[in-house]
Amino acid sequence: MAPTKQDPDWWKNCVVYQIYPRSFQDSNGDGIGDIPGIISRLDYLQTLGVGIIWLSPVFKSPMRDNGYDISDYRNVAAQFGTLEEMEMLVAESAARNIRILMDLVVNHTSDQHDWFQESRSSRDSCFREYYIWRDPGPDGAAPNGMQSVFGGPAWTFDVQTEQYYFHQFAPEQPDLNWQNETLRSEVQTIIEFWLDRGIAGFRLDVIDLIAKEPDRGITANGPRLHDYLRELAENSFRGRSVLSVGEAWSATPETALLYSGRERRELSMVFQFEHVTQQWEDRLGKWQPKDFDLIALKRIFNKWQAALESDGWNSLFWGNHDLPRAVSKYGNDGKYRVQSAKMLATILHLMKGTPYIFQGEELGMTNIRFNELSDFRDIETLNYHDICIGNGMSEADFIAGANENGRDNARTPMQWEPGGTAGFTEGEPWIAVNPNAMRINAVACLADKDSIYWHYQNLIALRKKIEVIVHGRYEPILPEHPEIFAYRRVSESSAVVMIANFSGGPVTFDIPDSASVGGASISSNYTPRFSFQRRMTFLPYEAQAIICDSRR
Ligand code: GLC
Ligand code: CA
Repeated sequence: MAPTKQDPDWWKNCVVYQIYPRSFQDSNGDGIGDIPGIISRLDYLQTLGVGIIWLSPVFKSPMRDNGYDISDYRNVAAQFGTLEEMEMLVAESAARNIRILMDLVVNHTSDQHDWFQESRSSRDSCFREYYIWRDPGPDGAAPNGMQSVFGGPAWTFDVQTEQYYFHQFAPEQPDLNWQNETLRSEVQTIIEFWLDRGIAGFRLDVIDLIAKEPDRGITANGPRLHDYLRELAENSFRGRSVLSVGEAWSATPETALLYSGRERRELSMVFQFEHVTQQWEDRLGKWQPKDFDLIALKRIFNKWQAALESDGWNSLFWGNHDLPRAVSKYGNDGKYRVQSAKMLATILHLMKGTPYIFQGEELGMTNIRFNELSDFRDIETLNYHDICIGNGMSEADFIAGANENGRDNARTPMQWEPGGTAGFTEGEPWIAVNPNAMRINAVACLADKDSIYWHYQNLIALRKKIEVIVHGRYEPILPEHPEIFAYRRVSESSAVVMIANFSGGPVTFDIPDSASVGGASISSNYTPRFSFQRRMTFLPYEAQAIICDSRR
């Protein structure tokens, strides 16, 4: 069942749908989404047309960071289901032409993983070197002042063996030591274990951090990073057409090519974050949001599209489980929610690269507005609350920042039906359901042919039918315009021109000759346009795409 004799780039015309299992569909009333719940919703995803499901981690885990802390790589968390149910998910998905991408966290494990339990038991343990242990500094303090991503020191003292261990995230997420060859071969066998069960590939969590060298203060892009990745691909993918997506917050167009360049044989693509972090100058910036700058955003997209034009491959996304809801962040989640959600989808899905949809985005789900700290569940948000308050921020300002950018926005339950728990669970949901589920839900979207859901369905289908969307050249139009986002995709015979008004008011603008075309409308969120005139007025968040002959 593993994808073997097939197009090595089979994923290029597919759209990926990310499921955050905890929040997707509960099947047994414990308030936590699970694998049987996902299986029961596969028809919904098949109708949408996605080719791949990226499943946030379902491995055994104490859930300190909702599964991004794995305690057994060869088993499934009991609250999510069983190995058999996981196999059933793979089979049921395959029957609907959907492949499964697992989320592998191998920068670190849970502190409950057997390896770490062994490692911490004695300095002589043969697992000692799987992790990073160092003697205390002269005064008993940490070896150095490195800080963790979730706030606080990156070193924790362990009394049993009187050394510090290194962790870039929570103390319950000790970092693995990739310098150790045995550890590296363990990771290979984990990958093979899952590939043998029919998994199509992996999203590799914080992959840019694995080659850290904490003694030299190095976290991202360690000197041996690409050696490790090449070794991993060579030994565990072994000729299979595995889709591999590396999460790399540090990625630049230059380093993206190191990961995903054709000749490099490392990863299929990376997630870069420049377009979604443009306002966060430092770690506290996330909690003190700034005004949005469209020109800056377009510069980032245009730069990436150009840089990976002929080699490497872009991943395209507005949101994920770590980011706020796209329509709230970049669109308008009030009056123009439907139009702006469709506009965002159009802009992203007609670019070159592989689009990723985060669950609920296709319904136009919005950020939730929590009033109190006790409503939040996310470890990062809770940790940063203390840090920000300690830095003199007011409680109200922190809550406002967390409501705008916090990770829980993406993690509120999927809104299937109006009312109650929105069809997510028969029990008490682990995190509050957004009260707007009354209006915003799958039942309403499916019933309305003009809904955001059907707009996505059309865009996903276009990528299968129209080659220029997958492979055509990307040319920005009006790159410095403060309200219009526009570009052209061009191949030998055809061109797609996409023009969007990225603002809440009508905009009158002039386009260059290359963009004033006539042809067939392929996507529209108002009345379809069949030609683009030299001078036009677009309505709030209007987005139109036309396909035409490029040889005229
Ligand atoms: C990645 C995950 C995030 C997690 C972190 C640590 O950034 O996407 O959810 O908290 O890695 O594993
Ligand atoms: Ca459950």
